[in-house]
Amino acid sequence: MRLSQGAPGARVLAFGGYQPAEVVTNHDLAARIDTNDEWIQSRVGIKERRVAGPQESEIDLAVQAGGKALAASGLSADDIDLVIVATCTLEAQIPNAAGRVAHRLGIEAPGAFDVNAACAGFCYGLSAASDAIRAGSATNVLVVGSEKLSQWVDWDDRATAVIFADGAGAAVVGPSEVPRVGPVAWGSAGDKAEAITIKDRRSFLQQEGQTVFRWATTALHPVALLACERAGVDPAELGAFVPHQANLRIVEAIARKLGADQAVIARDIVLSGNTSAASIPLALSRMIERGEVASGDLALLLGFGAGLTYASQVIEIP
Ligand code: UT7
Repeated sequence: MRLSQGAPGARVLAFGGYQPAEVVTNHDLAARIDTNDEWIQSRVGIKERRVAGPQESEIDLAVQAGGKALAASGLSADDIDLVIVATCTLEAQIPNAAGRVAHRLGIEAPGAFDVNAACAGFCYGLSAASDAIRAGSATNVLVVGSEKLSQWVDWDDRATAVIFADGAGAAVVGPSEVPRVGPVAWGSAGDKAEAITIKDRRSFLQQEGQTVFRWATTALHPVALLACERAGVDPAELGAFVPHQANLRIVEAIARKLGADQAVIARDIVLSGNTSAASIPLALSRMIERGEVASGDLALLLGFGAGLTYASQVIEIP
């Protein structure tokens, strides 16, 4: 038996993001449920979010984001041999998303699997992609985070309706002579599994907001710092910090603990809401489009969410 030979490292070649057209403002929500713009902005940091209608599936969102990342990467569909979709909100368990997304993008017969690590899913998928490239089991990988949370949220439950939204983000990952995707720092806290749940196929998403808030603001900055250490990067060298867009207060609380005052902090939640596995690549694609980060900058990613799961790595901006 032989082992396959992979590349010395992996790098992200391009990002792409996509959001559905319909904007739902805080005032729209306040017209339906007992909430208000001031509460949502001060407690969660969201001004508006995007929601997909019945005509647009989670697969559609993923195809749009994946297509943009593929076009921006300079590769063609034929170059991709593995597709990973991070999601926790598919409308049905079978079939998975990755095979359908690949087919719609004209990617012929790639390896295709989904990752359910909830809001940490994109970082898990990116790590799997980087490892597959280094191990020689894939050459170029499309990693997509896509969520249609609106189909699992009770729009009359103010505890969740004000937070979650729909969207997708994607990255094309390829081989590199030097590593441009750092080692992952990941883990889970299964003892807190009940903190975020969808109990069964007839239930909506529920979360113990304060349990998750306390955990996120106390347990996760060491994970992010470990990712920096494993990559050999001082936080003072970071160009950007792109955590999961769960709550602006969580984003800012973690950022304050990193010693990376010079880094641009992703605040995409303000206009996009919490899009779970989509939030990190969606935020990054916008930051690149707006010129807030430059090619070669180091960005620290930190995903965390239901499970509870978490994963963090440093990448170089393509
Ligand atoms: O992405 C997956 C990971 N998830 C997260 O990271 C979520 C983490 N948790 C959070 O972001 C926050 O805990 C929430 C945004 C979910 C809630 O914020 P909070 O500051 O923890 O509020 P709370 O649940 O402690 O509620 C405070 C008050 C309560 O009223 P009383 O009892 O003080 O009178 C709630 O009933 O705010 C009330 N409230 C609302 N008021 C207006 C709760 N939801 C709303 C609302 N509008 N939507």
